[in-house]
Amino acid sequence: MKKTVLITGCSSGFGKLTAILFGGKGWNVIATMRSPEKETELTQLKDVFVVGLDVQDKESIKQAVASGIEQFGRIDVVVNNAGYGGLSLFEQFSEEQIYSMFETNVFGLMRVCRAVLPQMRKQKEGTIVNVTSMAGILGLGFASTYSASKFAVEGFSEALAMECKPLNIKVKTVAPGAFGTNFNASTVNNIASGDPELVSYAQILASHLAQVAEQMRMHSGQESDPQEVAEKIWECATQDTPIHNVSGSDAEMMIGMKNSLDHQEFIDKLSKMIMPQEG
Ligand SMILES: NC(=O)c1ccc[n+]([C@@H]2O[C@H](COP(=O)([O-])OP(=O)(O)OC[C@H]3O[C@@H](n4cnc5c(N)ncnc54)[C@H](OP(=O)(O)O)[C@@H]3O)[C@@H](O)[C@H]2O)c1
Repeated sequence: MKKTVLITGCSSGFGKLTAILFGGKGWNVIATMRSPEKETELTQLKDVFVVGLDVQDKESIKQAVASGIEQFGRIDVVVNNAGYGGLSLFEQFSEEQIYSMFETNVFGLMRVCRAVLPQMRKQKEGTIVNVTSMAGILGLGFASTYSASKFAVEGFSEALAMECKPLNIKVKTVAPGAFGTNFNASTVNNIASGDPELVSYAQILASHLAQVAEQMRMHSGQESDPQEVAEKIWECATQDTPIHNVSGSDAEMMIGMKNSLDHQEFIDKLSKMIMPQEG
């Protein structure tokens, strides 16, 4: 029987590439996004059903899931991909900005899980793939708010996987490293907010981290291709993989380093690698 995937955040980046990949492999795709009226590419594809879904809006999730099931009869895989980043010092984020990030990256993802789990229980099978981040496995200074949201999803997913295993529902994560999608443009950046001391520290950190990122890019010798992430999501959705997965040479290198060291040693080494050193 033809399988069906529901993906959030299909307007660009990993979400769109994943929708195209699954569609190309002969799956039915429920490609969800906040502004489906703007979509011109996915609407041209056979068996790709483009529908509105804002993860902050419970009713839109309910309607998208119901209309997807009406269209294709079932949902075998859900890819929780919608999300955005935040790069600044913790103190530079307002409480509203932090709540809003958790609303999308954490509570929005939980809302989608809550909406599809009854269908998966009815089918007696299903797979949920949650897109997290390297920042959800390693605490990254200057991305503390974003790291917290993605750590939350890594923890939630690990626990949910345990809870759902007896129900024949798999839960996995894919943690990408840095990839050139629209992610940088949609990342919340507050580095000009706060008192002069804070702004000056934020500017030093921002330019240092940009240099580190550039050095890592040069070291790997190639631009990361976002298609890699779509392929990893496909692998997790269709094959026997661990719960936690990473994608991208930078994420693989960091996880290799993390797994080879004592936790504190790793944090110290990471901090030396990415933060400006005194003197
Ligand atoms: N690219 C990276 O370097 C990177 C690294 C690690 C993790 N990630 C994660 O990968 C995922 C996808 O990001 P991307 O790199 O593909 O970036 P992207 O091109 O900016 O795509 C993000 C998608 O999420 C959608 N979105 C944002 N808020 C939403 C909401 N409330 N409801 C529904 N959809 C919403 C966006 O829709 P709109 O067009 O409506 O804004 C867009 O379709 C995110 O969870 C991100 O945290 C990215």
